[in-house]
Amino acid sequence: MLTGKTCLVTGAAQGIGRASAVEMARQGAVAVALADLDVDGAEGTAELVRAHGATALVVRTDAREASSLRDLLDTVDRELGALDVLHNNVGITEAQLTDQLAVDVLPVEVWDLVMQVNLRSYFLTTQYAVPLLRRSRLGPSIVNTASTSGKAAAPRGPAYAASKGGVVMLTKATAVDLSPEVRCNCVCPGTIETPMAQQYIARAEDPAAQLAAMTGAQLVPRLGLVEEVAALVCFLASDAAGFTTGSAYDVDGGKLAWRGARA
Ligand SMILES: NC(=O)c1ccc[n+]([C@@H]2O[C@H](COP(=O)([O-])OP(=O)(O)OC[C@H]3O[C@@H](n4cnc5c(N)ncnc54)[C@H](O)[C@@H]3O)[C@@H](O)[C@H]2O)c1
Repeated sequence: MLTGKTCLVTGAAQGIGRASAVEMARQGAVAVALADLDVDGAEGTAELVRAHGATALVVRTDAREASSLRDLLDTVDRELGALDVLHNNVGITEAQLTDQLAVDVLPVEVWDLVMQVNLRSYFLTTQYAVPLLRRSRLGPSIVNTASTSGKAAAPRGPAYAASKGGVVMLTKATAVDLSPEVRCNCVCPGTIETPMAQQYIARAEDPAAQLAAMTGAQLVPRLGLVEEVAALVCFLASDAAGFTTGSAYDVDGGKLAWRGARA
């Protein structure tokens, strides 16, 4: 449970971020700040958060910009006066930006953008959030959204894989530097049914084959649900996870548990 906690979720307008924010409110969070470029989507999340009785604060944020992330934490401090849980979740893939996806053709501008949003913004948001988290008397905690791609590379996603591998190590480095006051863990989702995943599947030459390729090697052969990721995020953010820090938890239908072939 997250009773009485004040939370911040980035990339909160849809997908995993929306589910995480709503689950935080359901678990008793007193307030949830919702950061995203997509203000309309974040307002939709805010309505769902308020339906659970929590305060919702929408902050238009561009995760590419350090100044925007600075403003985000200043706004949270000014409007909510506290921060107990930070969920760094915003993310993009190179497939949203280009068709030239393999490492030998990926444009460097796309590499830079993926790194800016997926890795640099997690570092900056964490850095700006630390003074607030250190003021918390409610077991402050950071949860980062990494990916199975941060542990094992998928084809045609070199920037994404490198950024998510970076998130796994940033999580450990953060846990070390902020211990014992602030815990930091990350979740590594496999293929989750969100707009990002749906767009990736739809853009494939053969979407059905793409879906089968993405889920076929899993021990639970289906797309994961955003609620299944949110449940893990909220557990790691809660006091029940008080002995966990610096760890990366898979929520992937068993994809990384085996070699992917029975023969
Ligand atoms: N969906 C999956 O299968 C999957 C698997 C593993 C990891 N993840 C990770 O989970 C996280 C959430 O993914 P999702 O599938 O919910 O994605 P999504 O595309 O559904 O949502 C991402 C959100 O980030 C916002 N965003 C994008 N660029 C931004 C920017 N520059 N500034 C502010 N906001 C911005 C978007 O508006 C959107 O609301 C990401 O970090 C992603 O890499 C997703």
